[in-house]
Amino acid sequence: MTAYQKTSGKVIVAVDGHAASGKGTMARSLAEALNLAYLDTGSLYRAVGVAVLRAGGDPARDADAVRAAESLDLTKFSRDDLRSEAAGGAASTVAAIPGVRAALLEFQRRFAYQPPQNKAGAVLDGRDIGTVICPDADVKIFVTASLEARVERRIKELRAGGQAVIDARVRDDMIARDARDSGRSVAPMVAAADAWVLDTTTLDAGQVLAQAKAFIARKLSR
Ligand code: DC
Repeated sequence: MTAYQKTSGKVIVAVDGHAASGKGTMARSLAEALNLAYLDTGSLYRAVGVAVLRAGGDPARDADAVRAAESLDLTKFSRDDLRSEAAGGAASTVAAIPGVRAALLEFQRRFAYQPPQNKAGAVLDGRDIGTVICPDADVKIFVTASLEARVERRIKELRAGGQAVIDARVRDDMIARDARDSGRSVAPMVAAADAWVLDTTTLDAGQVLAQAKAFIARKLSR
């Protein structure tokens, strides 16, 4: 594994948190507002999960998942392929396999430490950015919200995308996903000790972004 060092003057913002907590929307808007590069690391795990399913494999089987992770070509996936509930479930399953995480580590670190287009830094969102990928990130934010709020948001999002939705099923899937993401032995979803925890249960996207921007401004002015 290549060791990366933070280049002075570059900023790394690590955004971790629960599914449907609003972290993706917030991280993307933050990157745009601060003119930083943005990486949605969940899309890497989703792409691996979808590749396994397309090949007729089993996302829980190490060999199938690691093979897909090692030959990952993100240009083969559209955003629609990756946003489905099936992709999310498969992603969460392959994400528990150490060989999959190892195969995706280098790409994420390089992105963070050598952001594309020579940007002044990068925002990465995921589950283990502040703990494993970039433990030395300048800013760490852990985004969460109540289960009910997250289920409601996910249902709205799926309906808006034209998908048929059974509410109870979305809730069950969310509970299963939380348990898998937090309970796995390798790089479990957990707030870094030095992360700021942002609860978005009662906030809209604009308020979430404003709070995150204010936190970053305070943190970087120290
Ligand atoms: O953020 P998301 O819902 O697109 O992520 C899909 C799954 O991928 C999530 O359930 C867990 C996994 N994941 C991970 O384990 N580590 C990351 N850094 C990002 C996502």
